[in-house]
Amino acid sequence: MNVGIDLIHFATADYYLGLDTFAAEKNIDVDKFYIGIGQEKMSIAPPDEDVVTLSAKAAAPILAQIDSDEITAVLFATESGVDQSKSAGVFMHGLLNLANRCRVIEFKHACYSGAAALQMATTMVRANPKEKILVIAADIAKYDVDTSGEATQGSGAVAMLITENPRIINIEPGSGYFTEDVMDFWRPNHRTTALVDGKYSTKVYLNSLKQTWDHFTEVTEKSFADIDYFCYHIPFTKMAEKAHKTLIRRAKATVNDVDFDAQTLPGQLYNRIIGNSYSASLFIGFISLLDNVDADISNKRVSFFSYGSGCVAEFFTGVMQPGYQSVLMTNNHRTQIMNRAPLSYTEYLAFYHQPDSTDENITFEHNNRGAYRLAGIQDYKRYYEKTASET
Ligand code: COA
Repeated sequence: MNVGIDLIHFATADYYLGLDTFAAEKNIDVDKFYIGIGQEKMSIAPPDEDVVTLSAKAAAPILAQIDSDEITAVLFATESGVDQSKSAGVFMHGLLNLANRCRVIEFKHACYSGAAALQMATTMVRANPKEKILVIAADIAKYDVDTSGEATQGSGAVAMLITENPRIINIEPGSGYFTEDVMDFWRPNHRTTALVDGKYSTKVYLNSLKQTWDHFTEVTEKSFADIDYFCYHIPFTKMAEKAHKTLIRRAKATVNDVDFDAQTLPGQLYNRIIGNSYSASLFIGFISLLDNVDADISNKRVSFFSYGSGCVAEFFTGVMQPGYQSVLMTNNHRTQIMNRAPLSYTEYLAFYHQPDSTDENITFEHNNRGAYRLAGIQDYKRYYEKTASET
């Protein structure tokens, strides 16, 4: 039975901070960002945007194409959830008027949880082909000001409809996975920003890639030459380049098997100008591949490497379905990215420092230009609203 991604769409915030602006403010050579880490811009969420509103923005165009009452479960992956108890997905379920006969749960493990949710959804559909599952991967990446992580922030949400006979990609059974208890990135419960041992995290990422690859090849007996396009978790695009080099060495790939740019570059273009979006970033990379690859990649095999600090990682593959182009939402993605407004460093700091969920009572200024926004918090309860711009 073929099971996989039937529809996929992403949303990002309405504002960005250019790393040229950032470099000028910090008196750093901009090439450290453009070349050294391979990033140009970071999508910055205003205070009235969170993972709930981003995910609603990501999912709405998918729901508009189906009978949304048929959604049997929402698996919501995030590291930047809005409540210690209530799933962010239940707020989204309310905003999007999903049916009550639907299960909603939140998945967490740093940047890995989106892949975990996708894998669980495919398993649920294989067990019961009537299931139609909405997988959400949504995060706002936030590090402390004046730390090395500050240049690798960003925000985004990906919504994926997982069904039998998918129109975009059939996710193949069989994956390589790896867990190791390490402290390369973590966020204690009281903090809104992550703590990170950045250089160490890049080493653990690459080791996890090697370990998952070894496991993947043992389980599936596939080789490097069986894969046409490679999508990696992208905290910054230089990391994907390092990953691909590492994989080529580990897999002992021959010169004929490697076309470095064709295999990886289209899958990095959006991430370069959106920044890190933790659990969403692997899938924004996949959408970037779909929207930007020149060739028809029907029947081609795509690999996915998911890495979540701490750490859990997984390597798996899928096969592109003929006719996939007819259901892509490329224009939506491009328009959103193009329509973002630039922020000065001072404006970015104003968004960054605005009161957060520790507030008991607050009404948020209207900065989020999307169809769904966080209106305020009263008695510690979050209130969302659909705005006039909803289509
Ligand atoms: N021109 C070109 N390249 C430059 C440069 C310049 N002017 N200045 C620096 N560079 C290069 C460095 O040589 C380095 O390249 P390398 O990684 O190939 O050695 C790269 O830019 C980064 O410079 P570095 O001094 O190491 O940056 P940093 O101390 O700010 O740390 C991270 C970079 C990624 C560790 C940091 O941004 C971070 O902690 N990010 C959050 C954690 C993260 O994303 N982890 C990834 C795994 S999940």
